[in-house]
Amino acid sequence: MQARLTVLAVAALGLAGCGGPTISVPSGAQPPPPGTYSRPLGMAVQEPAAEEDEGYVRDFVTTATSLTPENELKWAIVHPEPSRYDFGPADDLVDLAQRTGKRVRGHTLVWDQELPAWVTNRTWTPDALRAALVEHIKTVVGHLRGKVASWDVVNEPFSDDGNLKPDLFLRVLGPSYIETALRAARAADPDAKLFINELAAERPGPKRAALLGLAAQLRGGGVPLDGIGLQDHTTLDGAPSQADLEDTMNRIAGLGLDVELSEVDVAIPLATATTPAVLDQQAQVYGAQASACAAVARCTGMTVWGVDDRWSWLGAVKRPLLFDAAAQQKPALAAVRTALRG
Ligand code: G3I
Repeated sequence: MQARLTVLAVAALGLAGCGGPTISVPSGAQPPPPGTYSRPLGMAVQEPAAEEDEGYVRDFVTTATSLTPENELKWAIVHPEPSRYDFGPADDLVDLAQRTGKRVRGHTLVWDQELPAWVTNRTWTPDALRAALVEHIKTVVGHLRGKVASWDVVNEPFSDDGNLKPDLFLRVLGPSYIETALRAARAADPDAKLFINELAAERPGPKRAALLGLAAQLRGGGVPLDGIGLQDHTTLDGAPSQADLEDTMNRIAGLGLDVELSEVDVAIPLATATTPAVLDQQAQVYGAQASACAAVARCTGMTVWGVDDRWSWLGAVKRPLLFDAAAQQKPALAAVRTALRG
């Protein structure tokens, strides 16, 4: 009896690995049958929402075929102290994905945000930082070896002007930190596809040019890079056209790389009321993004950055996702389904 109470208490606290699944799949929630989509349709999922909100889990399970942990693999969460890793929340999400037949994208190993204080507050020598970076990647990728289809190894390395961001990694290690990270990830899981993930690089401009240049240089140098993630966070009136997206994706494919629309959302301005016409406009934007992916052979999927508006990082007021704040589907979902039809 005592043991059973302990197990229940541990599960209730969300401590993974001790008490079985902490995320319940609602009864009757069936994943999309095989062949529903021509490409994986992913969603970013966060553990607090998945533990608390049954509608959120239902919509994810019944709609998506791929899962990206929204925050749970970021350095500050998964590796909060030099000698302590906390894989609980990420393991819970990977377990949910495995129970419901989803692909998993790992997000993210090297980013200038969400770094723990022990990384940001220290004065590093190049050798010490390189060793810490490699150990972090080896441990995180190694822990999930065989369970993650693709990793966003390096996230958002560029500034809008096309220069590498002068973050900790660039300042201490120089541009070689990207190659170091990719090689460490490849060594830790040779079967996982390795991506650089970038935002606001969907259209022509200095950032896209720099990203393509870096990708070509890495490929030419035999560095293990398999793909580019285009985040594609957009707004109702500011989204890249389908033609721009296809052009950028074809350029990436032309380098021999895969490409994923990795973090799509379409924010509605605060002052714009939720009318049927506005929801149709949002559906058109989503449909164009999904159609672009479907038109490019090397597009490995489209991941929407969240499940429903209630839990969006942008706040429910921006109404950016495929399901509304009450977990009801929006016209955008039908548009994506049509564009990605298998
Ligand atoms: O976990 C704490 C919780 O304990 C606390 O009660 C709460 C109070 O604010 O904060 C929680 O942490 C927040 C976390 O999201 C979980 O909700 C962080 O403050 C907040 O900064 C974090 O924001 C995330 C953000 O990345 C920064 O990591 C968003 O959820 C996530 O959607 C967003 O995702 C990024 C991608 O990783 C990279 N590309 C851009 C994208 C959008 O910014």
